[in-house]
Amino acid sequence: MTETNDPSRRRFLTGALAAGGAVAATRVAAQAVPDPAITEVQPWAQYLGAGVDAAPYGMPSKHEAHVVRRNVEWLTADTVSSINFTPLHELDGIITPNGVCFERHHSGVAEVDPGEYRLMINGLVDTPLVFTLEDLKRFPRENHAYFLECAANTGMEWRGAQLNGCQFTHGMIHNVMYTGVPLRLLLEEAGVKSSAAWVLPEGADAAAMTRSVPLAKALDDCLVAFKMNGEALRPEQGYPVRLVVPGWEGNMWVKWLRRIEIGDQPWHHREETSKYTDLLHDGRARRFTWEMDAKSVITNPSPQAPILHGPGPTVLTGLAWSGRGTIPRVDVTLDGGANWHQARMSGPSLDKSLHRFYYEFDWDGGPLLLQSRAHDSTGYVQPTKDMLREVRGENSIYHNNGIQTWAVNENGEAENVEVS
Ligand code: MTE
Ligand code: CO
Repeated sequence: MTETNDPSRRRFLTGALAAGGAVAATRVAAQAVPDPAITEVQPWAQYLGAGVDAAPYGMPSKHEAHVVRRNVEWLTADTVSSINFTPLHELDGIITPNGVCFERHHSGVAEVDPGEYRLMINGLVDTPLVFTLEDLKRFPRENHAYFLECAANTGMEWRGAQLNGCQFTHGMIHNVMYTGVPLRLLLEEAGVKSSAAWVLPEGADAAAMTRSVPLAKALDDCLVAFKMNGEALRPEQGYPVRLVVPGWEGNMWVKWLRRIEIGDQPWHHREETSKYTDLLHDGRARRFTWEMDAKSVITNPSPQAPILHGPGPTVLTGLAWSGRGTIPRVDVTLDGGANWHQARMSGPSLDKSLHRFYYEFDWDGGPLLLQSRAHDSTGYVQPTKDMLREVRGENSIYHNNGIQTWAVNENGEAENVEVS
């Protein structure tokens, strides 16, 4: 506290700002003039703070209360069979904190008692088996960060720009470090018959949601997960156990996983016929479009995160991902595609995980048309929305990975527009 009155320290601060090395800093920081935020003793320095037993489970600062999942009321008839969205514009890095992972439920959150939890494996197996949660924890486990994207993410944007904010246009995604047992180990324990070709995971919620998953995927990288970001799964995310189907559409990641049936054919249930198929312009539908194509979005600036600081050094950032691998490169444009610049990737580049990119630029205060374009490790490049519609028509909802545009005006306010 006495430091602010220490003349030698004041001299040091002024000296540093005057030095050549501080040129960049003075463009984004205020000059060293008397500032009550520095010269006055602030309330938090006048009293003792809360003790170590005040928050046995820690919560974010009260100043971060706006960083929450949000739903769009008119999208669904009620909040039980509904969706909320991850506040992507408030996050950084690549991991989604557990409390803000978007939720999609067909029958609300099932409250499963872990003591009564059972996972059954039946069908084309040598020995049908039932596992308790404790049984699952006796198999070798693995840790992987994977994104989960609902196939309906960005689905409202097929026919043109609609929702104002990346939370709503792209927030049906989260990226979590899972701990779980490879599904392969459980299937080996039951002994899969040679005629088997498909598995049917089923949820314990009132929707008893099911999806047909090819056996090859089940044996490849699927996890029966019980931890997210180090702690038990949240009830919203399927506590105590969910299926992780890396790179594939979120609907297949069955929550509150209670049964896996093994069969020789797909079941053609609701979620793979009337839902999660893509109606083409000629009336035929694409089905079994499991893999999530490469996609990206600029999270800042964006409609919920305008530029508030005026012209000058500006940080643009966003997320990119691919269900087929990693993202070695993202391009960004400030002028609706006239000029593209390679963004700077930062953070780990993990298979089928979110990737973080940045592009620092000097904003001249003029209007901007911001877009990002992801390249994945297979060489696939994220298409424009027009390119998607050329192939798939206008009837689709799912698998919209087209390039997103934000129009920024002279006040730094951003709006969802389409430039294809
Ligand atoms: N599993 C069950 N049992 N019930 C559900 O309603 N919703 C699915 C999938 N698994 C669902 C489910 C859908 S459509 C998606 S996109 C993801 O869970 C959402 O996972 P999240 O709630 O962790 O974001
Ligand atoms: Co979904």
